[in-house]
Amino acid sequence: MRRLVAETRLHPADLVLPLFVKEGLTEPAPLASMPGQVQHTEESLVEAVRAARDAGLGGVMLFGIPTVKDANGSQADAADGILQRALRASRKVLDEVPEGTATPVLMADTCLDEFTDHGHCGVLTADGRVDNDATLTRYASMAVAQAKAGADVISPSGMMDGQVAMIRDALDDADFLDTSILAYSAKYASAYYGPFREAVDSELKGDRKTYQMDFANAREGLREADLDLAEGADIVLVKPAGSYLDVLRAVADRSDVPVAAYQVSGEYAMIEAAGANGWIDRDRAVLESVTSIKRAGADVILTYWALELAEWIK
Ligand code: PBG
Repeated sequence: MRRLVAETRLHPADLVLPLFVKEGLTEPAPLASMPGQVQHTEESLVEAVRAARDAGLGGVMLFGIPTVKDANGSQADAADGILQRALRASRKVLDEVPEGTATPVLMADTCLDEFTDHGHCGVLTADGRVDNDATLTRYASMAVAQAKAGADVISPSGMMDGQVAMIRDALDDADFLDTSILAYSAKYASAYYGPFREAVDSELKGDRKTYQMDFANAREGLREADLDLAEGADIVLVKPAGSYLDVLRAVADRSDVPVAAYQVSGEYAMIEAAGANGWIDRDRAVLESVTSIKRAGADVILTYWALELAEWIK
């Protein structure tokens, strides 16, 4: 009876698996703060994408970590940069299925923080502030490089004003009319990103409070989503997920495009840590946390448990 009348049901195609690929690695490197997650080599990344494909996931979201970081994040849009190489290899694996088979959508993180030696999501002015408009030009170039490498979805996560419109124009000019944009619209400056900083070898000192939102604000999150919708976002995203279910619900109620939510590294780490200590039932907490995100209005959920969950719910 409970199953029959359940109002919310997860499906593998709702889920997107975030994956990290690091240039120059010879073996996958486990992440201490994210038990079960790794920085992939180019080879192991391909295996993970294949597993995501075979599990019927809705998508994979790729993050690249270059060996050389600099002030402009030059490797972010280099044709042979780690992220572009990983996208090309993933494209190949996703396409090696019989015609007509549904495969995960290939998403690329479109942000400079993994590529800059200062760790900010944009380039800096001479006095060290994040330069919004100069960063837009970098994102446009990155988006085109990612589309050329086979990405289906460009995912600006840097919270620069005007990023969606700028990227849409650049994609259209380069004839990538069908490449979609997943906009990180309501992204909060959050303590829950802690483990991710290890995952991408972040060089960040300080914080991102000049471009990410204050966790006190809900209305502002709606305004950010409205702006991205007006600029042509194909999917709007709320991040983190678990502590922002109110924002997620409100965005879902007014959005006329699909809504995504990102269950971030800290949300993952907390449940893993408490589970490992025997303080909570890990598996039940995983299912409850992800189902709650869907109940609150997410059509698409980015979660590090995507593969494991897909196995449980298929
Ligand atoms: C920025 C980015 C971040 C995350 C995804 N994209 C970190 C940040 O904004 O500081 C965090 C994801 C996570 O914590 O799982 N490119």
